[in-house]
Amino acid sequence: MGLLNYLRSTILSKVVMAITGAILVIYVIVHTAGNLLIYLGQDTLNSYSQFLHSLGPILWIIRIILIVSAILHIVTSIKLKFENWGAKPTKYAVKNYLKAKFSSRTMIWTGIMVLAFVVYHLLHFTIRVTNPQHYYPEFYQPHNAVSYVLLERFDVYKMVVLGFKNPLISIIYIIGVVIVGFHLDHAIQSMFQTLGYNQKHYFPIIQKSSTALAIIIVICLVSIPISVLLGLVGGKI
Ligand code: HEM
Repeated sequence: MGLLNYLRSTILSKVVMAITGAILVIYVIVHTAGNLLIYLGQDTLNSYSQFLHSLGPILWIIRIILIVSAILHIVTSIKLKFENWGAKPTKYAVKNYLKAKFSSRTMIWTGIMVLAFVVYHLLHFTIRVTNPQHYYPEFYQPHNAVSYVLLERFDVYKMVVLGFKNPLISIIYIIGVVIVGFHLDHAIQSMFQTLGYNQKHYFPIIQKSSTALAIIIVICLVSIPISVLLGLVGGKI
């Protein structure tokens, strides 16, 4: 199917949203489980991070799948949003239309905020440019004018703890993660709806399960900055 047909096809767009959304949701679940290793201590979290980085090309394949999914998800959501604006509801469909429109409006705004949070998060923990004082001085030493040598195993645990000891950074993460939770709650439900699981019997169960999953993810993730702020994790750092 050509690009033109894709742009015209709302059904296909919704399927693209569901598949790319599912990939991103699976990533968030796995990432949440990985982050919880912080509770097993410095060595466990650092070993996990070292293992991920040792995957080399596999890690890059995963990253490329995530980046492509995120781009397709964002572009398609903008396309659907424009289509929604262009739609003219008939009188008897007004109630459903308003309901759908409210939900999609929420999704686009929480989606934009999730994107802003993820961009900040990548600059902070992956590209490591927002707070270089948390990691560069101890781990890297100038090798020559343009490169550094790594002195020891990279200490992700320490980076996370030092980051979250700053209350402002912790608050940004707590707010960001709660917004991710709202987005996930609606996202998982509409994903199942698109895939055809919208029958009367199943849908309430799907709605409750997706809300429960979103709440579990939010609790697991916000517990990390809160534990650091309370000194329960990384107290000695
Ligand atoms: C308290 C919450 C979170 C913590 C403590 C956390 C921690 C981290 C850390 C430490 C890294 C760098 C890993 C490394 O280089 O070894 C990372 C990378 C990443 N995080 Fe998170 N994260 C959190 C929430 C999230 C959320 C909610 C999302 C998505 C919505 C997310 C998406 C990512 C992505 C896409 C990467 C880049 C992975 C890569 O390097 O390929 N994170 N996170």
